[in-house]
Amino acid sequence: MTRAAPGPQAPTTEEATAGTRTVSPPSDLNVVTEEPLCAETSLADLNSWITPTDRFFIRSHFAIPEVDVDTWRLVVDGEVDRPLSLSFDDLRRETVRTVVTTMECAGNSRSSVYPPAQGLRWRHGALGTAQWTGVSLWDVLQKADVRPGAIEAVFEGADRGREPGVPEELVYAMSVPVVKAEHPDTLLAFAMNGAPLTAAHGFPVRVIVPGWYGMASVKWVTKVSLIDHSFRGYYRTKPYTFIHEGDDPNVLRKPVTSLQVKSVITSPSEGASVPTGPLIVRGAAWSGEAAVLSVEVAVGLPAEDGGTAEWRLATILGPTAPHAWVRWEIPLEFDRPGYYVLRTRATDERGDTQPMRADWNFRGVANNSIHAVPLIVRREP
Ligand code: MTE
Repeated sequence: MTRAAPGPQAPTTEEATAGTRTVSPPSDLNVVTEEPLCAETSLADLNSWITPTDRFFIRSHFAIPEVDVDTWRLVVDGEVDRPLSLSFDDLRRETVRTVVTTMECAGNSRSSVYPPAQGLRWRHGALGTAQWTGVSLWDVLQKADVRPGAIEAVFEGADRGREPGVPEELVYAMSVPVVKAEHPDTLLAFAMNGAPLTAAHGFPVRVIVPGWYGMASVKWVTKVSLIDHSFRGYYRTKPYTFIHEGDDPNVLRKPVTSLQVKSVITSPSEGASVPTGPLIVRGAAWSGEAAVLSVEVAVGLPAEDGGTAEWRLATILGPTAPHAWVRWEIPLEFDRPGYYVLRTRATDERGDTQPMRADWNFRGVANNSIHAVPLIVRREP
């Protein structure tokens, strides 16, 4: 019997064609590209701690693969003494673990990078927080007896296709250091927000790497290979790296890894028109390897950037989880009508603060520039 992959939540349609499936994005997402399917969330829909699955952004490099859970296998090989080939039921026998984690695509906010960077023009909505349920990757890897020489774990997805300038067909693959694979919250996840993964989000099993940009959380995972050297795969060495002006294209570059400290304003929306009087500004803030210490909001250009506005501390709200964003809010008062700009910046416990403008890189990855939201305050009718 074949158990079909559950589709994304309504209203969506799917049809299977030759090993891939066509998935229409939930109507609440803003489509960036139809093939492969990439769609983002409006900031106004990121107003809750957990992002509903049908509002969660989708980032795929190739067509969404059709995976039959009954024949699906997870192969563990490479620097291990006991290679494994596990079925879905084998995996489910491990201890189940649930984590809430924020996922941000490395290309999120690329559309506000100047000069324009190479890649999909994401606004700020390649971002979301979900509750992921699965098993700890390390529980599985331990069964394979990982050799001491292993330094990275490479995850391979079931999706494949072509990239411009690359002669051969590529499989989506990404690596993490073994120390990240060992973390109990690094999951082989089979559920999102309490339901089986949808096709678009990696059915039947995906990797979740908390605290890292989303590219490492490989969907439709079929293989984990332990290796004793740095992975040189296309996605690890080309698009998800920091390329600076003047870099030699033949020299390996710094890979994108953990999330930079960042915050966004989710309410009011960009360009909103509000009456004079009180206004509660709300948003989210996160950082990959450290807790968020503070979030500040300024109305106008802050003094250190040539203006006169002061940064004011926002209130950080619960709930919290080690790799999830925090929600925050600040009550403001607008006495006078006019055109304003709200800005937000987060600082984490390591002392990292969002810059007014993040360092430019060719791919526009990991952009954590201060988020600015234009606002119109109109006279109360
Ligand atoms: N895994 C596979 N197999 N193929 C992909 O294209 N995209 C990655 C990651 N895992 C990708 C993948 C990127 S760049 C991101 S940001 C996240 O998946 C997005 O996960 P989502 O589509 O569930 O939001």
